[in-house]
Order: sequence, then C-alpha cells, then structure tokens
Amino acid sequence: MRANETTTTRSDTTTPIDTTPEWKALLAHHRKVKDTTLRELFDSDPERASRMNADGAGLFLDYSKHRVTDETLRLLLAVARAAKVEERREAMFRGAHINVTEDRAVLHTALRAPQDDELEVDGVDIIREVHEVIDRMAAFALKVRLGEWKGFTGKPIKNVINIGIGGSDLGPAMATEALKHYAERSMRFRFVSNVDGTDIRDATLDLDPAETLVIVSSKTFTTLETLTNARTARDWLVSQLGDDAAVARHFVAVSTNAEKVAEFGIDTANMFGFWDWVGGRYSMDSAIGLSLMIAIGPDDFRDMLAGFRAMDEHFLSTPMDRNLPVLMGLLGIWYGDAFGFETHAVLPYSQELSRFPAYLQQLEMESNGKSVRLDGTRVDYHTGAIVWGTAGTNGQHAYYQLLHQGTHIVPMDLIGFVNPTTEVGDHHDLLMANLFAQAEAFAFGKTRDEVVAAGVPEPQVNARVFEGNRPSSVILGDKLTPRSLGSLVALYEHKVFVQGTIWGIDSFDQWGVELGKVLATRIAGELAAAEEDLAPQHDSSTAALIRRYRARRVRPDG
Ligand code: F6P
Repeated sequence: MRANETTTTRSDTTTPIDTTPEWKALLAHHRKVKDTTLRELFDSDPERASRMNADGAGLFLDYSKHRVTDETLRLLLAVARAAKVEERREAMFRGAHINVTEDRAVLHTALRAPQDDELEVDGVDIIREVHEVIDRMAAFALKVRLGEWKGFTGKPIKNVINIGIGGSDLGPAMATEALKHYAERSMRFRFVSNVDGTDIRDATLDLDPAETLVIVSSKTFTTLETLTNARTARDWLVSQLGDDAAVARHFVAVSTNAEKVAEFGIDTANMFGFWDWVGGRYSMDSAIGLSLMIAIGPDDFRDMLAGFRAMDEHFLSTPMDRNLPVLMGLLGIWYGDAFGFETHAVLPYSQELSRFPAYLQQLEMESNGKSVRLDGTRVDYHTGAIVWGTAGTNGQHAYYQLLHQGTHIVPMDLIGFVNPTTEVGDHHDLLMANLFAQAEAFAFGKTRDEVVAAGVPEPQVNARVFEGNRPSSVILGDKLTPRSLGSLVALYEHKVFVQGTIWGIDSFDQWGVELGKVLATRIAGELAAAEEDLAPQHDSSTAALIRRYRARRVRPDG
C-alpha cells in the first residue's frame, strides 16, 4: 500500500455531527433516560454486568456502571457509524493525511507494526525504517546497560537524564516509572522538562557527569525549554569534565531534525530519528522511548510494542459494540455532549501508574481540546473533556469527597491489575478492595433509608447520604507488564481518535500552544531589556506585571 495514494476526502468529514439524525436521536433519548439511576438499571436487569463488558489485548472493561441502557449504546454506535469511525480508522492505518491542518499522515501505529508488514509513505518503506531505528536503539541500549558504552573518562554509564518536554518527556517518564520493576535497578533515570532551573539543577546535583548520559529528546529540536535545559546540562558536563570533546560520549539526541541536532553540537551519528507522521504525544514507542529502552532493555521494550500492536489489532478488527476504544470513546461523548459533564478522572490503583494521568492529559487534551472542525467551522458542542487524576487510593483521602457527594458529576476510569508486580504482604488485596469498593460506592451510594436504619440522628442524615449514580469504568489487566502497559496506552490513543472523529476535529495538530510560545519569546527579551523598552501592544495588566518584575528582580551579577 502506498500511503500517499490515499487522502482524506474532506466531504466525508465535514457533516457536523450535531446536524445528523443519529446525534439528534441520541439527545432525544438522553432527555428520556437522564434521570434513570444506576440502582434502577441494575435492579431491573440482573444480567447487566455480564453483558456490559468487553475485553481485548489482555484488558477487561466493565462498563456496566455507566448511565446507559442497551438503547443508549445502540444510538451511540449509530453516531459512530454516522461519523464514519470505521472508514477513518482504515484511513489512519493506511497512512492517509488525516492530520489535515498539517497535511500529514498519522502513523504511530506503524511504530509497532511487525517487520514483515508493508507500508510506503511518499515512496519510502517506513516499516523497514522503523525497524532499523529500533535495532540501532537496541544495540545502543545494550551497550549502555552492559557498561560497554564508556564515558569520556572511560567510566561506564550509571545515570541517564532524558531532557524533553510534552510528548518528548511524559511518555518515557510515565513508562519508566510504570515499568520500574522491569528496569535495570543499578542505574538511575531522571527526566528533566521544566525550564525552571531547579529541574535541571536538582537532576544533576548528585550525579557524576563522567557516568551520566544525557538524551536530548525533541521532535523539532527547537523547543525553548528543552534546548535551554540541554545547554545547561552541556555546560555542567563540560565544566566538570573539562573538555568540549566529552559531549560526544555523553550526549545523544532523539529528533526528526538532524540539522538542528548538528547545530546544537551533537554528532548526528549519535542521533536516533523518527518521522513527521509521529505526533509528539504519540511518540513514546518511537526513539523517544530510548531512555525507557535503556531502563527495561530491548526485549521488554519490544514486548511493550507487542502490547500496543495487540490493541491496534483489537481496534482494527473487533466489531464496534465490543471494541474497547470505541466503547470508551462513545461513553465520553455521552457524558460530555449529552449530560454536559466537563471533566473525566483517571484513577489508577497502581502506584507505578502514578504518572499515567499526566501522560493522558497531554494525549487527550492536546489532541481533542479543539473548537474548530476539519473544514474550519466552529463546533456547537463540547469536545475533549478536562482530564485529571492521581493514584486512586491517595485520591480517596483527598478529593474523593467531591466525587461522592459534590455537585459535579465526574465520570471516572478506575484502572487496576489482578496481580501485583511485587507481592508485599496483603497490600495488593487491600489496594484492589479499595478499587472495587469505590466503584460500588460511586454507583449505588447509600440511601436515606439505609442511613436512618444505621441509627444516624436526623439532623445528620442528609450529610451522610450518598446519592450514588456516579458513573465509572473499571479497567482490569492481569498484571502490569511492558505488554499490558503498551495495550493500555494504545487503548487511550484509539479512544482519542474515536472521539476526535466523531467531533470532526483534527486530533493531531496543536496550534493552541503556539501563541503563548511567541509571546513568551518576546517577553523574555523585555524582561532583560532597558526600563521603557516594552512592546506597545501589551495590555496594561501584562505591561504592569513586566515592569513590576523588572523593578524587583535581583540579578546575581548585581
Ligand atoms: O508545545 C507543545 C509541543 O509541541 C507538544 O506537542 C510536544 O510534545 C512538545 O511541545 C515537545 O515538542 P518537541 O518534541 O518538538 O520538543
């Protein structure tokens, strides 16, 4: 298949979903069922839990505790068909330019395609290229892990610092934490992203540069935060090792931009490439995962890719009514667009997945936080939800109060694993008991009668009632492994795709990050400039803040 033979037919994607009969039928149905409670749904249907679940790629989804009926699901699936989710899914996997505003293919799925797959993009066999890069990464990762890659002074590498931000940080940082039980524990892995100097300073403070490898990860290699941190890291290293030549043994780059890598001073022989058809937030399974591969080793990295691939295959071939990403995407549409619930919580019952919500914030919100459709017209409906969350049990003792009894309804994903990565006494059973208990409490609450029957005095009864009817998915894997992590990430990638397709937006651009970058560059110059040298176009608030900053800023050189 030649990818550039296929292009997105805009006419397929320009019918606003809210003008379709399927959407209108969904909203009419919502008006009828919106007050039905989960208690009522479960009481009237003992088979509900055994019917409303699906599994794929080793993950099990229980979606019975959602405020949906069989009819709701039928209507949601009709919306997905009206939006041509299946056709667009084929187009994405084939390499059509579905990233319309940047005129690019969207082919993160090719990063985990088996070696014997065939896919050409602009006349290039991209599967061959993908595997060449993975093999180079593997050879390098092994050398580092085995102590064969020596630093400038001849010492083996013990510390790896990944410098990157957004998609060049969150994926490897999340996965290195998630898979720490599979990692080379004698090595230290750090991730520096923030331009706040504390980040790089703290990451390097206790390290010996002679034993440290810095991976500068940036798709564009123009990102201010990353280049600033990389320069500071280089200064730290060169000043301590006393020779510019040390950079070649201690710095490697991951990027699509060889020219800028060379300009920065990293030999492109020490660069691992990827391609413009990999979006930053979809890149953790590309060379952007180099730090992760060094941590867990090439075999486990390949297992993770197999997990991604298993979910890709599930997404491609499973009928929509049993297709995990489709179901999760549709549930999000139901809550955001029919009920108007604005946020979505991701609550992993897994300490290792503590960074997963932050990873999903970029994946979901940078992808689907859009208000303009593919044809440039404005949407008249809600798009991507506000995603948030932390490790579940910690949340229970912090914000779950609002989730149980507050006035906002927050649909949730509770994620857990049947087996722990390490057995520690009865910790795992307690952890999972909490997950199951919370899902039950969210759905069914505690009625007034139950509170009264428990002997609570009348003035306190209302405060102790739990209305319930708080919807949640439970996502269960057998164990957190490289493979199941890959499947989990791909599940959310494809969920995002399903939703973006229904909303008719471009899930693969990120123009919304540009304005702030331009203004910050201008203001950075002004902060260091002479008193009156301010751009006339600043509003009075920004101008006053800059003046106040300049007046009070104490610089080390006086
Ligand atoms: O500013 C947003 C963004 O472009 C993200 O989309 C991207 O993941 C991140 O910055 C980092 O970009 P780069 O990898 O080019 O440094």
